[in-house]
Amino acid sequence: MSEPADAPSARPLALVTGASRGIGAAVARALASRYDLLLGGRDADALERLAAELPGARPWPVELTDPAALAVATAGVDRLDVLVHSAGVGLLGTVAETDAETWRRQFDINVIAVAELTRLLLPALRAARGDVVLINSGAGFTARPGWASYAASKFALRAFADALRAEEADNGVRVTSVHPGRVDTEMQRGVVAHEGGEYDPGRYLRPESVAGAVLLAVTAPDDAVLTEVVLRPAGG
Ligand SMILES: NC(=O)c1ccc[n+]([C@@H]2O[C@H](COP(=O)([O-])OP(=O)(O)OC[C@H]3O[C@@H](n4cnc5c(N)ncnc54)[C@H](OP(=O)(O)O)[C@@H]3O)[C@@H](O)[C@H]2O)c1
Repeated sequence: MSEPADAPSARPLALVTGASRGIGAAVARALASRYDLLLGGRDADALERLAAELPGARPWPVELTDPAALAVATAGVDRLDVLVHSAGVGLLGTVAETDAETWRRQFDINVIAVAELTRLLLPALRAARGDVVLINSGAGFTARPGWASYAASKFALRAFADALRAEEADNGVRVTSVHPGRVDTEMQRGVVAHEGGEYDPGRYLRPESVAGAVLLAVTAPDDAVLTEVVLRPAGG
């Protein structure tokens, strides 16, 4: 017998930010067979299209840098099995070129929004003994010329993940940082345009490969936590 349409789902729940495109959309697709999904992003049309493809998925359109909007959007989420932070920006430039406003925007979305969304959802994550996965970057380990503010935001994100993991271990919340190299997404197109190079998608990781690492982290057995997963394009 089928359940009534408004019956609570028996499946676990995952929230994926940045699900309107790129890595976040691939993560949502990878999780869809196991989890009901809240699809984060601002492009409501893209979120509706993805939700229509995936069973148990709903758009969750929120401006992540607006703490009041975050508080409203997270109210009523009492149990959350997986939180994947994929939303981010990649604003490049040398230190000489990067003004305070750019530093603030980069940190606002890549770090502060992540911290605030995590804080608001911690009770729900503890209730489910859930997983937090943060899409970091190779730039979370190494800062190259022209990448100071982006790399600094990703170093900060790694520090946030390390502290959160240590704080929440006794509550059963696992925390994983995923550090991909270059991935074939709109963000990478912007990076290559900034660098003045030719865009060759075959040289970059596929978003689905990064999503595979996220799935691996959240399906790891209970006795293990994947603390950091590093992925590089296999071609060198
Ligand atoms: N692409 C790479 O080569 C690469 C490599 C290493 C790490 N990463 C990291 O991977 C993550 C995803 O990158 P991507 O390549 O998939 O980027 P992308 O294609 O540019 O997508 C970025 C996503 O973030 C969302 N977003 C941005 N600002 C937001 C805001 N203020 N509020 C709500 N949502 C916002 C966008 O949603 P809307 O457009 O709907 O607002 C979009 O879904 C980022 O954290 C990035 O730093 C990327």
